[in-house]
Amino acid sequence: MKAGMGMSLRQMTGGAMAMLLVLFCTPAMAEYGDVVLNKRAEKEEMRPVIFPHWFHRIRFRCKVCHTELGFKMRAGANDVLMADIVDGKFCGMCHNDQIAWGPDNCDLCHSGKPATKWGIRGGSQTKGPGRW
Ligand code: HEC
Ligand code: HEC
Ligand code: HEC
Repeated sequence: MKAGMGMSLRQMTGGAMAMLLVLFCTPAMAEYGDVVLNKRAEKEEMRPVIFPHWFHRIRFRCKVCHTELGFKMRAGANDVLMADIVDGKFCGMCHNDQIAWGPDNCDLCHSGKPATKWGIRGGSQTKGPGRW
């Protein structure tokens, strides 16, 4: 009886997770596990950048970004400049109109609510290697 209930609870949690994944596709809101990048954007009158970490994690291996592209594993640790992205570095390694849509789609990245501070939103904050 107890074990059975445990199972169905787990299944429900799985369903809820799937719903959360679907919700990730809604821009302009920081969802669970999103990283907000806003060291310079808002000072330069652009909305904060929302990087949907989970959306990318299920598509690419960690080392693509954290080894090959040089993203440090700590929210706020990277100095990402727009000029570098346009040059094909950081996000621009993929957002180049080939692997994914290109840097001219400002609003798809600069989709954060004004005044959202940089940092991670959600539960992965204390678990990752970045906190060791
Ligand atoms: C693929 C995602 C992406 C796209 C598309 C994008 N940006 Fe950015 N942009 C970023 C990231 C990430 C940063 C760094 C944010 C931070 O730390 O403040 C940034 C930073 C900036 C900054 C801050 C100053 C600087 O030079 O770094 C400006 C201004 C900016 N972007 C303008 C634009 C404009 C204008 C467009 C469209 C023509 C655009 N961005 C498209 C991701 C993107
Ligand atoms: C598409 C690129 C990409 C992939 C793939 C990716 N990450 Fe990240 N990751 C980032 C970016 C960008 C940040 C934010 C860096 C910043 O804010 O300066 C980040 C931040 C992090 C952080 C810091 C969180 C915190 O609390 O500070 C951890 C931990 C992390 N990633 C782990 C992983 C792991 C584990 C994987 C593979 C399962 C992975 N990442 C895959 C780009 C990626
Ligand atoms: C390793 C490749 C890679 C890197 C690096 C990368 N992206 Fe992406 N990103 C993708 C792909 C592929 C998609 C899916 C494109 C599509 O649906 O056409 C995507 C989609 C997105 C989306 C839309 C998510 C959705 O729900 O549809 C956003 C926002 C985004 N990226 C922002 C960023 C930002 C900001 C950075 C840098 C901090 C970044 N990406 C770095 C490959 C990458």
